[in-house]
Amino acid sequence: MSTPDPLPHHIAIIMDGNGRWALRQGRPRTDGHEAGSDALKRTIESALRHGIPLLTVYAFSSENWRRPRSEVRKLLELFLRALNREVRELNENGVRIRFVGNRSAFNPALRDGMLRAEKQTADNQALLLNVAVNYGGHDDIARAARHLAAAVERGELSSSQIDIERFGAELALGKLPAPDLFIRTGGERRLSNFLPWELAYTELYFTDVLWPDFGVEHFEAALADFANRERRFGGLGQVRHA
Ligand code: IPE
Ligand code: IPE
Ligand code: MG
Repeated sequence: MSTPDPLPHHIAIIMDGNGRWALRQGRPRTDGHEAGSDALKRTIESALRHGIPLLTVYAFSSENWRRPRSEVRKLLELFLRALNREVRELNENGVRIRFVGNRSAFNPALRDGMLRAEKQTADNQALLLNVAVNYGGHDDIARAARHLAAAVERGELSSSQIDIERFGAELALGKLPAPDLFIRTGGERRLSNFLPWELAYTELYFTDVLWPDFGVEHFEAALADFANRERRFGGLGQVRHA
């Protein structure tokens, strides 16, 4: 295993293409979600091997409720099963799990499972895995604005204190550093309401590989691509001007 340099500290992933992967094989879309959970497992293992400390993955968007009820139900069942099956091993590997998004819409069994996983892994240090479920970036920004506005109304905060740092800290990812690298599988070139605030200066990487096919070699190709980017953040970087 060769490690590209520099490595991203925080990677955000839209795990897309499960349905198409299944349909191509004449199987139901939910088989694709099942295979997608193995791809996530592989990706977490790769991140751990490379010592990448932060991974944020999009598992279910606030817009995915628009899908047929049967697919949503199967997806939520799959989350619960995957949680029950995988948490012990993730814990042994030093992975801390956190869920971001509005979980109040989920059934009590799933909410309990998420809370248990968070508590059980709370002290782990090797990798923080944020799983975005019922997450929508617009929703998150509006919620943060409401929260700050309420603090102003109570007289606990003055509007002039609301700056980028303060606002960002109210969002679902809190004070975590923004993602350095964004990966979207499945061929679409869009953000689909994933981390619109946090991705402002993130390096974007799109691949046509469908999520269930995403393997170590694809992950490492994304890392290698990132290592060749020049991040300028509005400055001039290595560019020389006469
Ligand atoms: C991503 O795969 C998983 C979720 C959105 C839950 P899709 O289900 O969107 O797969 P495609 O894009 O239809 O192939
Ligand atoms: C984004 O994929 C959401 C997740 C992967 C969880 P979608 O498949 O829902 O996105 P669109 O509909 O193609 O934009
Ligand atoms: Mg999709």
